[in-house]
Amino acid sequence: MNNSLTRPLAVVTGASSGIGYELAKQFAQNGFDLLVTATGPGINEAAQAFEKLGAKVETVQADLATYDGVETLYNLIKATNRPLDAIAINAGVGVGGDFARETDLKDELNLINLNVVSSVHLAKRVVKDMVERGKGRILFTSSIVSQMPSPFQAVYAASKAFVHSFSEAIRNELKDTGVTVTALMPGATETNFFHRAGLDDTKVGSDKKDDPALVAKQGFEALMAGKDSVLAESLKTKIQGTVSQFLPDTVTAEQNRKLNEPGSANK
Ligand SMILES: NC(=O)c1ccc[n+]([C@@H]2O[C@H](COP(=O)([O-])OP(=O)(O)OC[C@H]3O[C@@H](n4cnc5c(N)ncnc54)[C@H](OP(=O)(O)O)[C@@H]3O)[C@@H](O)[C@H]2O)c1
Repeated sequence: MNNSLTRPLAVVTGASSGIGYELAKQFAQNGFDLLVTATGPGINEAAQAFEKLGAKVETVQADLATYDGVETLYNLIKATNRPLDAIAINAGVGVGGDFARETDLKDELNLINLNVVSSVHLAKRVVKDMVERGKGRILFTSSIVSQMPSPFQAVYAASKAFVHSFSEAIRNELKDTGVTVTALMPGATETNFFHRAGLDDTKVGSDKKDDPALVAKQGFEALMAGKDSVLAESLKTKIQGTVSQFLPDTVTAEQNRKLNEPGSANK
């Protein structure tokens, strides 16, 4: 039997493109039904791709940077009347540029509302149900930059440091509950992220990047294995992530400055 009574359900936020799109494909390929979200209509086209992989898919367009957007999503999760087996809290944006002289506070507060506030809000809602049920898997899309200051992406890296610390802490709190929490730590990955963040004219924006499909595969596998975190996907990212833990913040900040500085793109 392969219907909604037996298939597990997963939610993926930010599933219309990039890493979230590939995470949703992983869930679909591995027998999950899906509830997927994004702000734009692209989520409906993405849903068709997930359905082709055998998943029953519901979509919602909601701005998760708002309180009401997160509540709308949670109400739809409840309305499925199905237990939530897994959630990938993945939607996120960046803002590139000089904090004092260039970037817009409105964009940075939106970033914090999405990357930080909505991650806590959504986790708060779903984790209670998972703990009551004694079962569930939560994946946060953190980042390699959660471990290092990132000049010209200052607020973004700080938001991911929050997400990462939060993920590791609640993982520990939940260790006897049957609920696991995993942090996916991608390096620079080939998605719409850099263009959206205004980072096209930077070295990091123009360099070769990791494949979002492979990043998502490693994230999904780590989630299913109940691991605490995974550096994904290339050897370069794994080395960068590992080495950075032993370097002073002043050194990693200087390294990231070279990658993120406006006008640093490879010509
Ligand atoms: N790409 C990288 O190098 C990289 C590295 C480390 C971590 N990450 C993280 O990976 C996650 C996914 O990013 P990505 O690289 O895959 O970028 P992406 O291709 O731009 O995808 C972002 C997704 O988030 C959705 N989204 C944006 N704002 C939203 C909002 N206010 N409410 C709800 N959904 C919203 C977008 O949907 P709409 O387009 O419809 O708004 C889209 O589906 C983010 O958390 C990012 O920080 C990325």
